[in-house]
Amino acid sequence: MKLKQHTIKRLKGNYGSWSLITGATSGIGRELALKLGESGFNLVITGRRKNLLDALKQQLVEAYKVDVVAIAGDLSAEIDVIHLIEETEHLNLGIVILNAGFGTSGKFINSNLDDELNMLNLNCKAVLILTHHYANKMKSLSNKGAIVLLSSMVAFQGVPNATNYAATKAYVQSLGEALHLEFKSEDIDVLCAAPGPVETGFSARADMKMNSASNPKDIATSIIKAIGKKSTVFPGLLTKFLVYNLRMTPRWGKIRIMGKVMQGFTKHQIK
Ligand SMILES: NC(=O)c1ccc[n+]([C@@H]2O[C@H](COP(=O)([O-])OP(=O)(O)OC[C@H]3O[C@@H](n4cnc5c(N)ncnc54)[C@H](OP(=O)(O)O)[C@@H]3O)[C@@H](O)[C@H]2O)c1
Repeated sequence: MKLKQHTIKRLKGNYGSWSLITGATSGIGRELALKLGESGFNLVITGRRKNLLDALKQQLVEAYKVDVVAIAGDLSAEIDVIHLIEETEHLNLGIVILNAGFGTSGKFINSNLDDELNMLNLNCKAVLILTHHYANKMKSLSNKGAIVLLSSMVAFQGVPNATNYAATKAYVQSLGEALHLEFKSEDIDVLCAAPGPVETGFSARADMKMNSASNPKDIATSIIKAIGKKSTVFPGLLTKFLVYNLRMTPRWGKIRIMGKVMQGFTKHQIK
């Protein structure tokens, strides 16, 4: 489904025509890029897989005649985060979507510490550096700025069997919802997007088997529509249904329920 004209007009009027999406080579980020491209936004897209990045750039340019800058890099490495900052210095990025991220699952005691640190670097450290940088840059824009952070439903309580992943998203959610208020005086809108399960490359990399999952196209539409409207969006019908059902459960109960859900997602790991 295309974005409605009044949404496109509102976004362009508020934030101008350039946007950045990290992690655009697959899943939610790719759908966000296609949706914004279709709506006439010029894009900076990133990801490690250069072949997929270049193919997406070509698709966006040919189909929607927008300007696209593709910057390949591993954002868990600070040097590549700095490279991204340098390569976008000349652009007036009004919408910055920090979407690149991954998860791990299984027993914390058995986890690979290098993988967990790598996840912390990508999901938290890169998000911190890029939020700080682009927020400062947005202060000089003639229009407003918007920063979107990819949180998750797992951000709102501890989640046994996805312990460190949930903790990284709790960091993102906390950062984003505080900045939402703090940045009102800076004319920067901050949105946390907190999906439930979505059908993307995420589950294979996290070694999770999800029973049901939302379509990333619907998630992308819901996220874009929420920019500038609220501090946190629970995108998609499945996410809303799950959040609604958990709304009366105290935090200690949610930890247990989410732990059971994650146990189901990871039961294939038990030999
Ligand atoms: N899918 C879900 O159920 C779900 C639920 C809640 C929240 N989320 C969050 O949504 C975001 C997008 O995930 P997704 O579901 O769309 O998963 P995905 O299909 O695996 O996409 C992840 C994107 O991040 C990029 N990425 C991964 N590691 C990277 C690195 N080291 N450096 C730079 N880019 C990297 C990937 O590109 P390359 O591989 O080319 O680098 C890819 O474009 C993540 O932050 C995730 O935590 C997902």
